[in-house]
Amino acid sequence: MIVSHLTFTLVALHASLVSAATSSTGDFNILSYVNPFIGTTNGGHVFPGATLPHGMAKVGMDTNSPGNQAGYDANAAYSVTGFSQMHDSGTGGGIPLSNFKLFPLANCSSFEKCPTSIAGRQTPRKINADGTPDDFASPGYFSTNVSTDIRVELTATRRTALHRYTFPTSSAHPRIVVDISDDVPLSSTDVEGDVDPNTGRVTGGASFQVSFGPGYYRAYTCVDFQAEGYNLTGPSEYGIFTSDYQLRNTTSVDQVHYGSVDQIGALLAFLPADNNSVTTILARVGVSFISSAQACANAESEIPDFDFEGTRQAASDEWSELLGRVKVDQQGVEDEIVELFYSSLYRTHISPADYTGENPSWNSTEPYYDSLYCNWDTYRTLYPLMSLHDPERFADIVRGMIDIQKHEGKTDTGWLPECRGATKQQYIQGGSNGDPILGEFYVKFSDYASSLNVSPTDLYSALLADAEDQPPNWNLQGRQANVWKKYNYIPQDVYESGGMSTRQVSRTLEYAFGDFAISQVSNLMNMSSDSSKYTARAANYANVWNPNITVPGMDGVRGMMQPRLIDGTFNFTDPRHCSIHDPEHATCYLDAANHDGFYEASPLVYVPQDMAALIELQGGNDPFISRLDYLFDQNYFDVGDEPSQQIPFMYHYANRPGLSTQRSRQVIAQSFNTTVSGLPGNDDLGAMASYAAFYLAGMYPLPATQQLLLSSPYFPQISFFNPTFNSTTTILSKNFQGNPITGTGGYVFVKNVTINGQPWHSNCYIEWEAFKSGSLIELELTDDITVGCGETVDALPPSLSTGGYD
Ligand SMILES: *[C@@H]1O[C@H](CO)[C@@H](O)[C@H](O)[C@H]1NC(C)=O
Ligand SMILES: *[C@@H]1O[C@H](CO)[C@@H](O)[C@H](O)[C@H]1NC(C)=O
Ligand SMILES: *[C@@H]1O[C@H](CO)[C@@H](O)[C@H](O)[C@H]1NC(C)=O
Ligand SMILES: *[C@@H]1O[C@H](CO)[C@@H](O)[C@H](O)[C@H]1NC(C)=O
Ligand SMILES: *[C@@H]1O[C@H](CO)[C@@H](O)[C@H](O)[C@H]1NC(C)=O
Ligand SMILES: *[C@@H]1O[C@H](CO)[C@@H](O)[C@H](O)[C@H]1NC(C)=O
Ligand SMILES: *[C@@H]1O[C@H](CO)[C@@H](O)[C@H](O)[C@H]1NC(C)=O
Ligand SMILES: *[C@@H]1O[C@H](CO)[C@@H](O)[C@H](O)[C@H]1NC(C)=O
Ligand SMILES: *[C@@H]1O[C@H](CO)[C@@H](O)[C@H](O)[C@H]1NC(C)=O
Ligand SMILES: *[C@@H]1O[C@H](CO)[C@@H](O)[C@H](O)[C@H]1NC(C)=O
Ligand SMILES: *[C@@H]1O[C@H](CO)[C@@H](O)[C@H](O)[C@H]1NC(C)=O
Ligand SMILES: *[C@@H]1O[C@H](CO)[C@@H](O)[C@H](O)[C@H]1NC(C)=O
Repeated sequence: MIVSHLTFTLVALHASLVSAATSSTGDFNILSYVNPFIGTTNGGHVFPGATLPHGMAKVGMDTNSPGNQAGYDANAAYSVTGFSQMHDSGTGGGIPLSNFKLFPLANCSSFEKCPTSIAGRQTPRKINADGTPDDFASPGYFSTNVSTDIRVELTATRRTALHRYTFPTSSAHPRIVVDISDDVPLSSTDVEGDVDPNTGRVTGGASFQVSFGPGYYRAYTCVDFQAEGYNLTGPSEYGIFTSDYQLRNTTSVDQVHYGSVDQIGALLAFLPADNNSVTTILARVGVSFISSAQACANAESEIPDFDFEGTRQAASDEWSELLGRVKVDQQGVEDEIVELFYSSLYRTHISPADYTGENPSWNSTEPYYDSLYCNWDTYRTLYPLMSLHDPERFADIVRGMIDIQKHEGKTDTGWLPECRGATKQQYIQGGSNGDPILGEFYVKFSDYASSLNVSPTDLYSALLADAEDQPPNWNLQGRQANVWKKYNYIPQDVYESGGMSTRQVSRTLEYAFGDFAISQVSNLMNMSSDSSKYTARAANYANVWNPNITVPGMDGVRGMMQPRLIDGTFNFTDPRHCSIHDPEHATCYLDAANHDGFYEASPLVYVPQDMAALIELQGGNDPFISRLDYLFDQNYFDVGDEPSQQIPFMYHYANRPGLSTQRSRQVIAQSFNTTVSGLPGNDDLGAMASYAAFYLAGMYPLPATQQLLLSSPYFPQISFFNPTFNSTTTILSKNFQGNPITGTGGYVFVKNVTINGQPWHSNCYIEWEAFKSGSLIELELTDDITVGCGETVDALPPSLSTGGYD
């Protein structure tokens, strides 16, 4: 069921639109278009299990696959190792979370002969006739059939998972393993665990290694059992195990001498249903980062009655309401495109996760969001997509970030989080990209800050702390601010303690973008001297531009971002660096051996806040366009890494929006699909998902600005309901003729735009104002790829050097 805003939000629009929208979307079950398995093999690292939007409990199936960062792999060849309670989605780095695996055993010959270790218990999956595993998922629900004939179903509330294990009738001693210590890397220390022999309640916790940073975090669980259809009076057998050794009647891990044994937990048996029918055992699993007592309290308050169907329905209703804020008309659109769109929208709401009440480091009444992992990935498209339809959540995330900034410093104030995971600071990749996230929020919602409970003063102090104060460890928070302020770029030959002297060019570009975001906020706050200061610093990207660098084999392309030394001279990094043409196959990842100045991008990168100046640096529109063409034709464009995300849309700035439309559509055709391997690399906590969603919606956002670059949606009509504005904005293509399957050609180029019936001056961008007031944006399409942005000077999207972004 869709809880729909459609009926009341369309009231304000034209009568003709209402009938078009209701006839095509009236019986449209959005959740049936969400495929949680996209990107669950082949490096996508997507989590397909059960979660609420931004839930902390993300309960899913774990497989013994390499690269199982989200626990699961869609490849049926991998066996099941357990059903664990917390995951991240789409991350690189080490394996995060995956804590507290439960595992059902139908038929061990005795308690002491049960396979409790990972190697012992891992079990093949049941495989369908077509070779796929017998797994099913939809938002808020996951199920599988294991080859032992046990059916497993999972659902979740915010901090509690509910498992339903249906055992075969032949199972005389249904048993469940509660593995407390195994997080896949087997990193745990200080394991605690107890079984209550009367009720079967298992409580426990351990310290686990952080997956993309230094140190350990501590997590706790609380597991209770009930049967469906009959009453359990406690477990029929219980005890603690270490590896494959079980000690019956023990109630605490302290009773078991385990020395260096790294697999420890509890094993319980339950009486089967007494009339030879199927035995169904429910396991309710609370989690917490505070204590096992809090894990129990979370579980008792969130799922008091073990109501599996009710919990599943509540999760599915929450997803329907959220995803239903974005409606598409699917007439003339392939089902696969509709599925790709809603699955992408779904994945932008898995993380960050709402850990409110679970922050072990300080007490606060503010929201606490974690699993940020990393802002560097998500600031470009995930938060701008949230601005369009989920501002309340966005506001809570911003409040959480500000609260972290207030508490995580040396004294009483610190820095914005960057790559937080599992309650701990993790490694910074580029700059401190909380800056453009807070900037995005304030630029879009400054008028609503107080109703959304965000303090503008606190938001601004947090931005200034990042911009001005250098933290003791700028590998984990903030920026190398002293060096930035002294040189106006990050020289390659500055060595100081507190962080890795790497990625200097990439950090220069990211710091400049961070300062741009701050300048946008100071503008709105009428802080004119700050505004001038940060606008000037936003132009610092030009300090690492060496006009004389060429690409071997391409004479016309001249000038690149390059590493620069303290004395102002340039060092040299081959422009093919980090691309598939790199003769040295250089690493551009996060390690101390990366001495070439760049991170996940080649020197052929971009400057989104001042495209007009970048075009000047490259010699004008024609060389700029040929360079973009060269990037694509020679495969320099790297769809899997975020710095490349805007590149397909950069033709807009050279007055060739048709080329952007075509390139962005080719990117979708070549790199995104609804198969289990349908992602070009890690989903990065929804960064790739939100990117694909924007391309399909026919837009690309410039974070921390009032503008959205415009192309044509893949749908005759798409509308965004914004609960804060209580308004719906619809983009409608008057003469929609479908989508070319290869992304090439077609009737897809924007020729004319009207807003609420009035001519709009640009085919290349729209203003946030249209979304605030709720508008009907009508596009006229053509098959002529040479269309321009429009006739007037302000038809081109804004750039800093051509007057800025007011
Ligand atoms: C469990 O063991 C019993 C007795 O050995 C056997 O009859 C039954 O088929 C087994 N069931 C499963 C699911 O393996
Ligand atoms: C598992 O088996 C049950 C019935 O035995 C069936 O209804 C279900 O569709 C199967 N597959 C999944 C993924 O749950
Ligand atoms: C047998 O068990 C099922 C549930 O497992 C229950 O619904 C049914 O009432 C029971 N029948 C008898 C005769 O006890
Ligand atoms: C289970 O126990 C409760 C109370 O303890 C009782 O009300 C209920 O009828 C029992 N259910 C069954 C199936 O025996
Ligand atoms: C475990 O406890 C049960 C019930 O008290 C008892 O019957 C059994 O002998 C005990 N087993 C062991 C191995 O201690
Ligand atoms: C938070 O408050 C509780 C209750 O007063 C206290 O037990 C706990 O230590 C506090 N936590 C922190 C991190 O200060
Ligand atoms: C900034 O100035 C404008 C124009 O005078 C005014 O409308 C706005 O309220 C001011 N904003 C703030 C935050 O003071
Ligand atoms: C680029 O080349 C010109 C002409 O040789 C020279 O004047 C200029 O200093 C060079 N710039 C840099 C940054 O090397
Ligand atoms: C110049 O670049 C080379 C190659 O990347 C690097 O090894 C060297 O350390 C750089 N020089 C300085 C002074 O940083
Ligand atoms: C689906 O996308 C993946 C990842 O980009 C790509 O490797 C694969 O070829 C695509 N498959 C199809 C059928 O288009
Ligand atoms: C939202 O707008 C609709 C009309 O578009 C109106 O009926 C409704 O009362 C508004 N809701 C709020 C909370 O203002
Ligand atoms: C765009 O469409 C509007 C409304 O039909 C029309 O008034 C306007 O002249 C058109 N502009 C161009 C450039 O065709």
